Parts: sequence; structure tokens; C-alpha cells
Amino acid sequence: MLTSAGVFDIFPRLVCAGIGCIYGCSTGRLRRLSHNDIGITKGGKTRFIGVGTMLIDILTIFPKMFEDVLNTSILKIALQKGVVRIGLHNIRDYSTDKHRKTDDAPYGGGPGMIMTCDPVFRAVEAVRTAERKDSHLVLLTPQGRTFTQKVARELSQKSGLMLLCGRYEGFDERIRTGLKPDEISVGDYVLSGGEIAAMIVVDAVVRLLPGALGCGASTADESFENGGLDYPHYTSPTEYRGMKVPEVLLSGHHAEIEKWRREQARKRTRKRRPDLSDEQADDSDTQNGEERRD
Ligand code: ADE
Repeated sequence: MLTSAGVFDIFPRLVCAGIGCIYGCSTGRLRRLSHNDIGITKGGKTRFIGVGTMLIDILTIFPKMFEDVLNTSILKIALQKGVVRIGLHNIRDYSTDKHRKTDDAPYGGGPGMIMTCDPVFRAVEAVRTAERKDSHLVLLTPQGRTFTQKVARELSQKSGLMLLCGRYEGFDERIRTGLKPDEISVGDYVLSGGEIAAMIVVDAVVRLLPGALGCGASTADESFENGGLDYPHYTSPTEYRGMKVPEVLLSGHHAEIEKWRREQARKRTRKRRPDLSDEQADDSDTQNGEERRD
């Protein structure tokens, strides 16, 4: 039953799932929704309204780390607009240990602690309600495939994501074999846990969702979207400490501006990221010589 029908009418995607916390907006201001805010959990089932809204669930032992990130800038606005709903779930809540332990020492010895299977399996199973039956399970790990703009696009096409964040020295291998997650790394370095990696994934994916960016804003011209880096941007004043805005940008000649930007993007990519330049060349080969917008 809806307990705040008026609020619900205005912002139809406000929900309280009864599992973890769902972020949304009930009065125009984003806030964490408590279970008393909007009660639409009935008979253990949560009814969400707003087909097309992506549902992202984050499973972590540090849900608080996400609060400021979700309450800021584009993510906050996307939540307010109902473009995405984000559930935060504390893996500790699924531990049956009296101290809510989620880790243990490695068999065979060695340093550090390993995330144990049971709280993780139980958390994933509890979060995977009927509505999330198709949610794509991602495990954040330095051992995964590298997260790129292409992967962000791929993930943005999913109906839902479940992001599993690890801590300690890593996961019990049976979490991999049993849950078969899509393993993703945000780069060749080791973070203290998967939380910051999950934030990177959420940010890059959400800004690609239709309606996430403001009117007229587009991701089409950004770095990596066309296989290379972005062109240089300038704004007022036309001269600052002797540094001038290139004439062409002040010319009003749209075709010339477009050409200049393409050239600059190509030069910059070749100089700074020759690896991407090669990819661009490969791509254009496979496009029968059609000119690309990079
Ligand atoms: N956890 C620790 N390091 C990571 C990385 N580079 N990518 C994803 N998850 C991680």
C-alpha cells in the first residue's frame, strides 16, 4: 500500500524496497528513503513503477561510502528524475555469525583475510527479487576485464545491475565459480576495496542513461565515445593572461569549427594515446573508408 500517495504521484519512482536502502526523491530534495517513507512493499514483494528506469543494487560492507557520491551532481539529479534507482545493501546484514563477520583467514596460510561465501551468496540471493531477475551481476576486482567507455555503454543497456564490492585480500574463489559474475576492473592498480570501483561504474553508466544529463547535453562528443580523446574546449574570456581562444572558434563558421575540432581530437589522440589511434584506424578500415567523427 502506498502510505504517501501524493508524494508517490509526483515522483512515481520513489520506493522503499524493504531490503537495504533505496535512494530517491520524495519532496524534490534527494534523501535516503526510510522504510516509513513510502511503503509499497506488500506480502514481501516490492512494486516499482517506472518501466525503463534502471535499477542498480550495490552490495558492500560499507554502504555509507556511497551516500555523498549519490547525493551529488549528475547522480543526484538522475535519481531525482527517476532515471535510475539505486539500492544499497550491507553484506553484513546477511552474515549469520554473531559478530556479523564476512571474512576469514585463507586456507593454506598467507596474509590478509578473504571474503567468505555465505554472506555474499545470501546477500545476492536476497537482493535478486523478481524485479531483479535479469539484473546483471558484476564483481569489482582487479582481476576482471578492464572497464572502458564501451563496457559502460554495454552495461547501460541492461535493465539492472548488481554490483558486488569486495574488501580484504579478495573473495573466496567459490563466489566466482558459484555466482558467475561479470568480473570488472577499473584499471591496473589495486584499491582497498571494490567500493570506489563501483562508484566509477555507477557514474559512467548513469550519465549514459537517457534523461540523465540536462537538456541538450550529450555524451556523443566526449572522450572515448568515438574511439579517441575529446577536442580542446574554450569559454570566456577570449583572451586570458595572453592566451587566446583560437580564431576559428570565434568565426561563427560551423563547418570550419567542426573540422578544426575533428583535427584537434585526432592530433591529441595520436600524441597522448597512440593505442587509441591504432584502434581508430582499425575501426575506420572496417567501415569501408567512411569518415568517422573523431
Ligand atoms: N578492487 C580493488 N582494486 C580494484 C580495481 N582495480 N578494480 C575493481 N575493483 C577493485
